[in-house]
Amino acid sequence: MQEPILTVKNLSVSFSDKKVVDSVSFSIHRKEVLGIVGESGSGKTMTALSILRLTPPNSKVEGEIIFEGRDILKIPEKEIDKIRGKKISLILQNPHSAFNPVLKVGYQVIEPLIIHNRTPKSEAKKMAVNVFRSVGIPEPEIRFNSYPHELSGGMKQRAVISISILSGAELIIADEPTTALDPTIQSQILKILRNLVDSKSISMIFISHDISVVAWISDKIAVMYGGWIVEMGETYEVLHNPLHPYTKALIASIPHQGEKAKPIPGSPLDIHWKGCRFAKRCPLAQSICFEQTPQDKYINRRKVKCFLV
Ligand SMILES: Nc1ncnc2c1ncn2[C@@H]1O[C@H](COP(=O)(O)OP(=O)(O)O)[C@@H](O)[C@H]1O
Ligand code: SF4
Ligand SMILES: [Mg+2]
Repeated sequence: MQEPILTVKNLSVSFSDKKVVDSVSFSIHRKEVLGIVGESGSGKTMTALSILRLTPPNSKVEGEIIFEGRDILKIPEKEIDKIRGKKISLILQNPHSAFNPVLKVGYQVIEPLIIHNRTPKSEAKKMAVNVFRSVGIPEPEIRFNSYPHELSGGMKQRAVISISILSGAELIIADEPTTALDPTIQSQILKILRNLVDSKSISMIFISHDISVVAWISDKIAVMYGGWIVEMGETYEVLHNPLHPYTKALIASIPHQGEKAKPIPGSPLDIHWKGCRFAKRCPLAQSICFEQTPQDKYINRRKVKCFLV
């Protein structure tokens, strides 16, 4: 098997005394989508931001993030710009904040090409229009000359994806990229992202609170709760045979056609910081769960953090 493109080892992110990401480890290979799923506050965004060294200044980040043989956490600040937005690109939930409202969309899309790659402007424009077409932006020449407010949320997100494609990034981190979009547009964007991974041989970390979205696009799933990866494995296996009580609850919460979403009982912020972090909401919790910390167990190709498994 090929070397992973990214290996995260024992990553922790803390704010004062709280580890909001705690000893997270995973790796991603080329052409692979790793989905990270979990309710709000589980540490998904902090995990993503650590990889680009973009966590808030009051955070403490520990562990190793090996990309192209180097630990990103040890690279000097001025060299990180050679990776951020170039080799690793970030797509966020809100495409509206990705653009400066007073500059035309096309200019903002080609700016990195002109500045960093010294591509002539006319050439860069041709490349951008082609990429716009490939991500389903209709009348790409017209949209190239539009201002951000003239584009819908879905069109703007396609323009953001175009920036990632043009950057030639080898790894895309997409953090809730479809959460702000309506369901039809959401599925179009998901298809574009999956197609991008398959056709360009890149890799992706796809983050969402919605396990059905993550399941559709991902090869592997990491389920996060309270800063822990509580279960990780091949998507098909995790979905059809979930082992951790929280994964089971997430899957049970997927609404069937015509049904309303069924929230998991209890609050995602009700974290038991001693013992198992899911203990306060876990229907199977025993006294040991409140006292001792479960360790990772490896079962076939699965990793699970639970006393009962
Ligand atoms: N600047 C900050 N100061 C203190 N705590 C923070 C800060 N930013 C995020 N957190 C906490 O870190 C935890 C994980 O946040 P985040 O990674 O954004 O979760 P997710 O993306 O899964 O919703 C949350 O409990 C959040 O309150
Ligand atoms: S360790 Fe205990 S509380 Fe935690 S998920 Fe397993 S059974 Fe539930
Ligand atoms: Mg988030």
